Amino acid sequence: MSTPLEITFARLDAAPEASTAALVANDLALSPTVAALNTRSNGLILKAAEAAEFKGKQKTSIEILAPQKLDIGRLILVGTGKASEQTDSDWIALGGYALGQISARKTATASIIADVAGAGDTKPEAIAASLAMGALLRHYAFRKYLTKKNGEEGANGNGNTDQKPVPDRLTKLVVHCAAPDKASAAFEAKRAVADGVYVARDLVNEPANILGPVEFADRVKELESVGLEVEILDVDALTELNMNTLLSVAQGSARPARVAVMQWHGAKSKRAKPLAFVGKGVVFDTGGISIKPAAGMEDMKGDMGGAACVTGLMVALAKRKAPVNAVGIIGIVENMPSGTATRPGDIVVSMSGITVENLNTDAEGRLVLADVLWYAQERFKPRLVIDLATLTGAIMVALGKDFAGLFANDDKLADQLLAAAKETGEKVWRMPLDKSYDKLLDSKNADIKNMGGRWGGACTAAAFIKRFIKKDVPWAHLDIAGTAMDAPRNEINTSWGSGWGVQLLDRFVADNFERGEK
Ligand code: BES
Ligand code: MN
Ligand code: ZN
Repeated sequence: MSTPLEITFARLDAAPEASTAALVANDLALSPTVAALNTRSNGLILKAAEAAEFKGKQKTSIEILAPQKLDIGRLILVGTGKASEQTDSDWIALGGYALGQISARKTATASIIADVAGAGDTKPEAIAASLAMGALLRHYAFRKYLTKKNGEEGANGNGNTDQKPVPDRLTKLVVHCAAPDKASAAFEAKRAVADGVYVARDLVNEPANILGPVEFADRVKELESVGLEVEILDVDALTELNMNTLLSVAQGSARPARVAVMQWHGAKSKRAKPLAFVGKGVVFDTGGISIKPAAGMEDMKGDMGGAACVTGLMVALAKRKAPVNAVGIIGIVENMPSGTATRPGDIVVSMSGITVENLNTDAEGRLVLADVLWYAQERFKPRLVIDLATLTGAIMVALGKDFAGLFANDDKLADQLLAAAKETGEKVWRMPLDKSYDKLLDSKNADIKNMGGRWGGACTAAAFIKRFIKKDVPWAHLDIAGTAMDAPRNEINTSWGSGWGVQLLDRFVADNFERGEK
């Protein structure tokens, strides 16, 4: 819920109309814009760079205040490293870095001057568009409830009595580059993806008192405005469908469950089998009767990170009019302890018919996914299924918070996801699916139990989900407990809710399913 940042493109020789400019260049001497500004300011720029020993190394910068004869209040030189070695995700990160330097100081408008010499095959407009995307991602901040920014003038109690959020200062960014029209066109698809990331971050950051299952579903329904076809299944519909494991998680909450189905028909044939994306949407996970310890429980407002990512991805695909058919299905529930809550020892018949003994009500995500995955396969006969879930603490023990765990029953699908991860910088690490984990789920009283004991928790969780995947359906499961929330901040994300996975899956779709479709 950031105040919007208006991004436009202008020519390199257009005067930066802002008080601040970040000049993105590698070899300063090679950049015609630097040369021109340097000449106009009587050699000041290169002199300053030399004095600061600025060599244009990647993600280094210097700031020159009020450079003489230039109408720029602050000129920030941003290093790129060797331009020919930078990838798309490097340019995105650099755009984020540049915006970070800009917004470190108060300014309402700013320019980024992208005059990068020697970038090899990468076209200047592609670089400019990526820089803009990175800047947009970096600009995100969840400020919806900040009516009072500590110590700030005009803040609440100091004039701002109408409970409106304090706006961001930066509202306008101009990206100067060689071919602004082309850059502007190239930016459209990237803006769509950034918009999807914003949607996911907003959902994850929103507290659970505001975002219950019904409110989440309402927000999804509003996405018809971007061209998605949206259906919301209420409790009656879910009961009719026998989504009993999903409903068993929700039954302790005063707030009823929902399942949202988002369809995007972008392929030539509307009836071509879709790609299916499924998300865990536990708006708050107390653990239920197997209640979690108090410390850190507030983080469980983010236990819908999988559903948020799927929603953001669908927005990205629709906004950039991706030539594919895709469906996003999310199970939205709240896991609460109460007199109506499910108990350890309860046995529930899932939609698939598999009976599940609930040995720990905190292992609830897999119960939600079991029914939603089954429904996705039954109804849509998808060409593949990918689920995302903040599923286990164990995945963080295994991988930390920089990598998501990838489980897949199909090597090609796994490799495609690993490749997209490399390209976007949203990292995944493949984890094992193995018969040995399966055995740990045997139950005396039902077909399967919902936890597999002390060790390998992320692997037994994946093994559980696998039971609900039909034969011959390529399937991947991403355990994003570490990456979806409170992940390490970086150049393009300073928010608690990271929106992790939107870029990864968008790239996965674009690289593998769009060529030849147009
Ligand atoms: N939502 C949690 C997993 C989680 C933990 C996500 C911390 C993000 C941060 C999940 O529902 C859960 O509670 N998993 C249990 C499973 C166990 C009871 C088998 C876990 O990982 O401890
Ligand atoms: Mn849980
Ligand atoms: Zn959970």
